Amino acid sequence: MERLMPCIANGKPDELDTVLTIAGQAALAGGTIIKKLYGKPHTIRHKGAIDLVTEADVASETAILAKITKNFPGHAVLAEESRAVYNGPAKGPTWIIDPLDGTTNFAHSFPFFGVSIGYVVDGEPQAGVVFCPLQDELFCTIKGKGAWLNGQQVHVTIEDDLQKSLVGTGFPYDVGSTLEQVARTMRNVLPRVQDVRRAGAAALDLAFVACGRLDGFWEMNLKPWDTAAGVLLVLEAGGRLSNFSGQPFNLFFPEIIASNGRIHGQLESLVV
Ligand code: IPD
Ligand code: CA
Ligand code: CA
Repeated sequence: MERLMPCIANGKPDELDTVLTIAGQAALAGGTIIKKLYGKPHTIRHKGAIDLVTEADVASETAILAKITKNFPGHAVLAEESRAVYNGPAKGPTWIIDPLDGTTNFAHSFPFFGVSIGYVVDGEPQAGVVFCPLQDELFCTIKGKGAWLNGQQVHVTIEDDLQKSLVGTGFPYDVGSTLEQVARTMRNVLPRVQDVRRAGAAALDLAFVACGRLDGFWEMNLKPWDTAAGVLLVLEAGGRLSNFSGQPFNLFFPEIIASNGRIHGQLESLVV
């Protein structure tokens, strides 16, 4: 876990250092399982018409939960495939886990997916990791200690012109009922940016904003496990978050705009 050390050592030692170490180990365990199963035939179940679960989602979650519950038996857990029921933020510490973000990509052997593990207290993100197993990229963050990629501190871009910005987005699984809104925003944004990417893994999209590969990102109807780690990466990398109306971002409210801060107002005025 050498890659986590610069983040842990940056600032005062505290209990979040242990949290990050376990989160990193758990993400690596999940990611290793996913990588082994990549490109092979899959067992696929449908949660909805286009919302898939593969054997890798389940196996990764099992490995992650084993690690976390062994080390923090008293903590609450929200995990996409087995403990997905929530009703707003829980009191105290909660681990929020997406064992495979980008399942559709994974199922099609499209190499953009990863593991996301966020640690929140009273609904506020405190630490997080996003691990991309094929690229061997481990993003990590602790509140107040910056955002890091494989041991190097990362920052959002300094681009302030939306027309020169590369932005990301995603389409919700219930696109049948949200198509009008998705299309309206795309019609607004597309002519005013350099380009738009829909890469298919929201946790990675947020990590990409944090490390400057994207200048901004928006999506509707994401779940807390898609965003819990990524939003702290963005903030700790110097970026900004809001909902579509410019109000403070909330993990349990399904709208997010994340950006380098400088293009935030311009992007927000187009996302409806
Ligand atoms: C999905 C991905 C995708 C986003 C969807 C998410 P999953 O997560 O992050 O990019 O557009 O809204 O649900 O289902 O692959 O974990
Ligand atoms: Ca996800
Ligand atoms: Ca998932």
